[in-house]
Amino acid sequence: MNGADRHGNDAWRARSLAAVWHPCTQMKAHETLPLLPVARGEGPWLYDFDGRRYLDGVSSWWVNLFGHAHPRINAALVEQLQTLPHALLAGCTHAPVVELSERLAALAPPGLGHAFYASDGASATEIALKMSFHYWQNRGQPDKRGFVSLAGSYHGETLGALSVTDVPVFRATYDPLLLRNVVVPSPDARRAAGGRSLHDVTVEAANALEDHLEEHHATTAAVIVEPLVQGAAGMVMHDAEYLRRARALCTLYGVHLIADEIMTGFGRTGTLFACERAGIAPDLLCLSKGITGGYLPLSCVLSTDDVYAAFYADDASRGFLHSHSYTGNALACRAALAVLGIFEDDGVIAANRAKAERFTARAAALAAHPRVRHFRHLGMIWALDVDTDRPDFARRFFAAALERGLLLRPVDRTVYFMPPYVVGDDEFALLCDGTRAILDAE
Ligand SMILES: Cc1ncc(COP(=O)(O)O)c(C=O)c1O
Repeated sequence: MNGADRHGNDAWRARSLAAVWHPCTQMKAHETLPLLPVARGEGPWLYDFDGRRYLDGVSSWWVNLFGHAHPRINAALVEQLQTLPHALLAGCTHAPVVELSERLAALAPPGLGHAFYASDGASATEIALKMSFHYWQNRGQPDKRGFVSLAGSYHGETLGALSVTDVPVFRATYDPLLLRNVVVPSPDARRAAGGRSLHDVTVEAANALEDHLEEHHATTAAVIVEPLVQGAAGMVMHDAEYLRRARALCTLYGVHLIADEIMTGFGRTGTLFACERAGIAPDLLCLSKGITGGYLPLSCVLSTDDVYAAFYADDASRGFLHSHSYTGNALACRAALAVLGIFEDDGVIAANRAKAERFTARAAALAAHPRVRHFRHLGMIWALDVDTDRPDFARRFFAAALERGLLLRPVDRTVYFMPPYVVGDDEFALLCDGTRAILDAE
């Protein structure tokens, strides 16, 4: 092997397949599906080791808000690196975690003033479930231990989070290990058809939730939802009215509402948090992914004064004795502060609104493609279902997109664009035109 080959794509692919067990992957699939070895990132582009570039149309699994290697986040991290990369958060505190907690409390829906940190989205879900269960124990209602989630829900893949996840491909094998939970119908807006309005779909799903809570509220701790968009189900969108009804029902029946904004948070649905669009505040709010702009693992659960107060006692066991070694990592918190600074200083939410309008107009020809069903858009998310019988559609599309310099990973037969917010009109056009060309060839 000459020098160039040793540092080229093929060499990295071979070494990776020998040593790395990749996530969410049947490794044998890589016998025919090549891995993309990424050498560096710049703005919305990723570059491989042979010098080709790929437009990151999925924000690297929905985390990368402002493009790769953003100068402002880079600078904040370099500075933090030289002062304090990390210190434990039990018995200690530091400026980035304090400042981030204050800012999140000020920006989140009202009343969520207490921030508990972890690293990944699934850990935030675990924390929210444990907090809710423990809250009811502390309040003298130990029978309230059940959880309710929506059909098609996805809240992560650790055992607790998987228990409230309803995506068979992730859940089925581990089902015997999981907590029993209840799944209620999703208010999936695509079901508004054949004489049923969006309002009908919304009310029917809310009524099903009400029927369940009316009968089982005494044994239910919390309802967990992905507000406005169920991502892993295939960017399944619903009306904000469902959230208002779910909030009212949870209040009426004395059940927590957990909003999992791990994907929808930080501007993805057009407001900083999706709950804003419904004008509701949950009891527990889970955040992660975009929180550090795609730099470092960080997640957070914001809770109300009422939840926090239930744990505040002389008795240690009434406290929330949960931790991870990297809870509140200073570098990650500092990246998150830089992200919030960019939102504020660059007027990102307003700029995205104008951009999204232009992008949606640009997607009209794709939306009208004969294979496209249910084209939908919210904030900085565009999704469509493809009319195809091919069970391997997602894999084939991924490979075809890479050949066109586009990084897109359909969820089953749903193709979606969730680009970094720095993507421009011409780049968005590449996503639309590339997708049309791939569908033409299907
Ligand atoms: C809504 C939602 N919740 C939880 C998670 C889990 O996050 P993580 O993959 O960081 O564990 C995800 C990840 O896609 C998500 O979309």
